[in-house]
Amino acid sequence: MQGFDKNTPRESFGSQIGVIAAAAGSAVGLGNIWRFPYVAGENGGGAFLLTYLAFVLLIGVPAMLSEFVVGRKAQRNPVGAFRRLAPGSAWPAVGFIGVAAAFTILAFYTTVAGWTLEYLYLTIFDKLDHLQKKDLENTFTTFVASGWRPVMWQVVFMLLTGFIVFKGVKNGIERSTKIMMPLLLLIIIALGIRSMTLPGAAEGLKFLFRPDFSKINAGVMLQALGQAFFSLSIGMGTLITYGSYIRKSENLGKTAISVSLADTAIAILAGLAIFPAVFAFKITPEAGPSLVFITLPMIFDQMAGGVIFELVFFILLAIAALTSTISVLEVAVAYFGEELSMGRKKATVLSTIAITILGICTTLSMGPMPELSIAGLSLFDLLDKTSANVLLPLGGLCIVLFVGWKLKPEAVIGEINNEGTLRARLAPLFMFIVKFLAPVAIALVFLNGLGLFGFFGGGDL
Ligand code: TRP
Repeated sequence: MQGFDKNTPRESFGSQIGVIAAAAGSAVGLGNIWRFPYVAGENGGGAFLLTYLAFVLLIGVPAMLSEFVVGRKAQRNPVGAFRRLAPGSAWPAVGFIGVAAAFTILAFYTTVAGWTLEYLYLTIFDKLDHLQKKDLENTFTTFVASGWRPVMWQVVFMLLTGFIVFKGVKNGIERSTKIMMPLLLLIIIALGIRSMTLPGAAEGLKFLFRPDFSKINAGVMLQALGQAFFSLSIGMGTLITYGSYIRKSENLGKTAISVSLADTAIAILAGLAIFPAVFAFKITPEAGPSLVFITLPMIFDQMAGGVIFELVFFILLAIAALTSTISVLEVAVAYFGEELSMGRKKATVLSTIAITILGICTTLSMGPMPELSIAGLSLFDLLDKTSANVLLPLGGLCIVLFVGWKLKPEAVIGEINNEGTLRARLAPLFMFIVKFLAPVAIALVFLNGLGLFGFFGGGDL
């Protein structure tokens, strides 16, 4: 089949391991490392974990598999995939939501990803040494609002992302994630061991794991599902795009399960790396950016050999973010490259430039240009919330509805069992889930995201 670039065959991942590295790379991101552990600890520890795991298996895996099915069957970017599988219908609009989400997600995600590079720099040049909490807070807030410096790091991060995507599926995405993902795993295990062997670490384990079922209510359940979606990269066609590069001989169901479990395992490992240390130093854990950019530097400062651990921690964050940003950029590149026949290179350059411009406005909205805000929300908050609360759930809902109700069941099952060559015993269960269970559950998250139930504002990183 013709690729984005005329006269070359469409690209694909070269191996099963490559597929898993790339897809797990997309899934494992900033969302796993600081958001999951904290949300879990706050919302019932072990009880939240069980709820989360149930959602990952019952809804996350089928939704991920749905995206793979659509992508591999159509051999197209998200817009082209719906066009090809449902010609003459309104379904391609779902693909457009995905391409739009690629812009909105990258614009704020690369702001934060850029911060990790600044903190790498601060660590390497010993600028975080012996700072009191107040100074660390100052360092962070001044930096974030300072304008040109966060913009510079964001541009660097976008260039790195663009560089990898420019090199293509096999030589760029697959090759780089095959190196970065094992490194990430190694780092997070090393940090986990260091953290859990600190005296007093047990309190942190309790925070993370002690089950408190009284905390599990409808709101927390919906939050768990929302977190599962963001963490598994579901809902904007990232996995349709990656699915379109999976070879016909690969087992899609197994891939979806492996990637989802890997993502969950790394989220838990992140909790094991962060909370035992936080509690060992008798610090109250805080949520969001301050956990990573204020609390943790404080802890590393007091820990023997802390600078080394701090260095590898920020490398870990940067890697986690990079393997995610390339997967989001690839959606835009696949769309422009294929649908508008630009070819990969031109599509990469143009989308990188366009997203960088939107990203710069986002970063500036947090400091020098507060007028970049709508309805009282800075551009940063607005894009974060629109993506997590509106675009992703809407996209995810449409994708499972498409697979459950629009595609022919034989066609879906044929894609899952590789036209009869695999056994795929769970395929009927999958069909039931995508027809009924998943749409209802996702619709609930979506309504919650819009605030209709008033459970949660929801949707922070
Ligand atoms: N899953 C990533 C994280 O946990 C973020 C991400 C990458 C994402 N690609 C996505 C989220 C696509 C939603 C859709 O940080």
